[in-house]
Amino acid sequence: ARTPTLAVIGGDGIGPEVTAEAVKVLQAVCGEQAFSFVDYDLGAERWKRTGEVLPDSVLAELDGCDAILFGAVGAAPGDKSMPSGILERGLILKIRFAFDHYVNLRPSRLYQGVPTPLASSVTDRGPVDFVVVREGTEGLYCGNGGVVRPGTPHEIATEVSVNTAHGVERVVRDAFERATRRRGKVTLVHKHNVLVHAGGLWNRVFEQVAADYPGVQTDYLHVDAATIFLATDPARFDVVVTDNLFGDILTDLAAAVTGGIGLAASGNVNPSGEHPSMFEPVHGSAPDIAGQQKADPSAAILSAGLLLEHLGRTEQAAAVAAAVTADIESRDGTPRTTPEIGDAIAARLG
Ligand code: IPM
Ligand code: MN
Repeated sequence: ARTPTLAVIGGDGIGPEVTAEAVKVLQAVCGEQAFSFVDYDLGAERWKRTGEVLPDSVLAELDGCDAILFGAVGAAPGDKSMPSGILERGLILKIRFAFDHYVNLRPSRLYQGVPTPLASSVTDRGPVDFVVVREGTEGLYCGNGGVVRPGTPHEIATEVSVNTAHGVERVVRDAFERATRRRGKVTLVHKHNVLVHAGGLWNRVFEQVAADYPGVQTDYLHVDAATIFLATDPARFDVVVTDNLFGDILTDLAAAVTGGIGLAASGNVNPSGEHPSMFEPVHGSAPDIAGQQKADPSAAILSAGLLLEHLGRTEQAAAVAAAVTADIESRDGTPRTTPEIGDAIAARLG
């Protein structure tokens, strides 16, 4: 059989440190020869060196891969040579849009023994284990809008959220499909009391799709109320489906209440398989700790597990999730380096 190719975009800061551990774990669970890994040098450093963000030729090469493992990109916050938005729009969002990553999958689980800001009265309500299905190709991320009379006191800036029936339907359906393989509940999060146009579309589509899944329980929350429940009763969530920006915000909160961004994994998924999907930790390049091998690679490794699941390697995906869970639940607070954590997880799989 053909050896699948995995593109590795380590990026900047701790990005390459954590993707190296994810590669190590993939090799431990699938064998050294299971994948051919191709490294791509992209991110702030490349931009500073060459002025290039993502050349078309590189995008075309990535399109030929079976999946992409992404670390993190971004220069230090104080680094004024890298203007905000260049890498976000030119690299991350460019890949999500070009490869039609309409399912931005963001699971959250509160592992045993992991410090959480949640009160014990909240965690006593039941296990926290949910997945946010964030729409990834529409909404306020399209760059649709503009500025009139820029720089004047009369400046008007608009960002228009794009929501299509096709785009909403496919992501909502994906959420219902996932719910049938989980605990059978989907919560729609929007703000249809204010955002009447987009909210109306999301509501209507949600109800139409729900009719095809009589066994799935449905719920609706306005996004502001959803943030309250994430902090006061996250056990109520199984699958949450929402638009691009609400999903961005909710998943940072979800990560914060389940032990922090160091454990938050994600997949930018093109379910049809027409283009490669991309798996990345939700965290950034953390320039403050870069080069010190201090970062927790768990989120990158869990993302590699999502990659395996996407490629149909269900058992190996489950093994990675179990190994990371076992590692996390056996932590006693002794500091470990990035490779020490990667080695320990790989050893559970070897
Ligand atoms: C994320 C990030 C990105 C987003 C940025 C870096 C474009 O915050 O993956 O959540 O807003 O989607
Ligand atoms: Mn985000």
